[in-house]
Amino acid sequence: MTTTEPEAIDAPVFDGDPFSMEALADPIGFDGRVRELGPVVYIEKYDYYAVTQWDEIQKSLRDWRRVSSSDRPFYEPNPYRPTVLVLEDPPSHTKNKAAAMAVLSGENLAKFEEYFAAEAKRLVTEILANGPVELDAFHDLSVKYVLKVFPDMLGLPEEGRDLLLKFGDGVFNVFGPDTEFQRQKLAGAAPAQDWVERNTYREVQKEGTVGWQLYELADAGKLPEEDARQVLKSIFGAGFDTTTASIASMIRALADHPAEWAKLKANPELVDNTWEESIRYYPASRFGGRWAKDDLVVGGTKIPAGSKMLMMWLGSGRDHRKYDNPDTYLVDRDLTGGHLSFGFGIHTCAGNLVARLEARTLLKELVKQVDTIELTGEPRQAMNYQAFGHEYVPVRLTPKA
Ligand code: HEM
Repeated sequence: MTTTEPEAIDAPVFDGDPFSMEALADPIGFDGRVRELGPVVYIEKYDYYAVTQWDEIQKSLRDWRRVSSSDRPFYEPNPYRPTVLVLEDPPSHTKNKAAAMAVLSGENLAKFEEYFAAEAKRLVTEILANGPVELDAFHDLSVKYVLKVFPDMLGLPEEGRDLLLKFGDGVFNVFGPDTEFQRQKLAGAAPAQDWVERNTYREVQKEGTVGWQLYELADAGKLPEEDARQVLKSIFGAGFDTTTASIASMIRALADHPAEWAKLKANPELVDNTWEESIRYYPASRFGGRWAKDDLVVGGTKIPAGSKMLMMWLGSGRDHRKYDNPDTYLVDRDLTGGHLSFGFGIHTCAGNLVARLEARTLLKELVKQVDTIELTGEPRQAMNYQAFGHEYVPVRLTPKA
């Protein structure tokens, strides 16, 4: 008996709008419904193809020669968008990524670890100094921590650091249609532009910092001078909204699941797994963009050459084809098969080691010092075209006796 490949089919047509306010208010539910229409779905309103299921997203990201990053849905040059990395294919992507990884791993990371751990201890101790405390886990914990530790390592001035979050909000909201919502978001981010540009120039980089090292790599001929600046701008754009939102989301998940928090407290070696489960459950990035350089068949479905593509990795975190009971949050879930919340393949998040370090050092300290985490009100999810996270998570933290 011979088996033949079934003939590729046209993608199911979806007439909804992934960028509507309804979708942004509940992206997990919305993207989950789109995922169940098929591995590839044609979004009629925008003439884009969405790749929705875990396996097919991974396979597409592996196929970077045909699934290119050099163009994407809603692309037009924009002051928020760095010109390197996410918008590049090899060979220029290869050298810029190598430079980014050189400064965001290895010896730098070891230096960051020591500092992050000391600051996490200092912050959690200070917060709990007077016993049980009510706070917003987004502003008073996550933002306070992230805007202290990583900008310190980058050598950024104290003043204006909050603009990094505004800038990130601009970066993540350019990825969507031109609407009043987008115009308001970009207007809110405008004051951050100058600050970010100013802090990426060679002259202001302090000796030994990430920016300084990037310019040293440029001097050594590893990447053009302007690309060194753009890599630094990418770090500013991608490195703050993501981590602040996902740390707050993790606290929400733990507050919502006291039995999981108890499990973690009893088994502190689960800290790393808890963080991975948290970003599977609440990914900070909703999707990425690509375009098809060739006629493709993805999951048995046709994508014509020239099509713009959305990689829907937020929905992939809840794909029941990949995870048992995907809507259940389990700090000891077996995640050896990984997740796509940092993307996959050559564009895997350049800052994933830094993000992981930030989250794990803070969580480790919470596990050491905190007895209970309880919600004291309704958390608020942020409205954003491309990013996902919580902007308000009211909790009561009770210290261990
Ligand atoms: C929880 C936190 C984070 C999440 C969930 C996240 C997620 C992602 C994802 C999904 C991508 C892939 C984009 C694509 O393929 O189109 C990406 C790329 C990237 N991320 Fe992150 N990120 C996080 C934190 C960070 C941090 C802290 C930095 C910088 C220190 C950073 C810098 C970058 C850069 C430069 C890229 C582009 C890489 C490339 O195109 O090769 N990210 N991130």
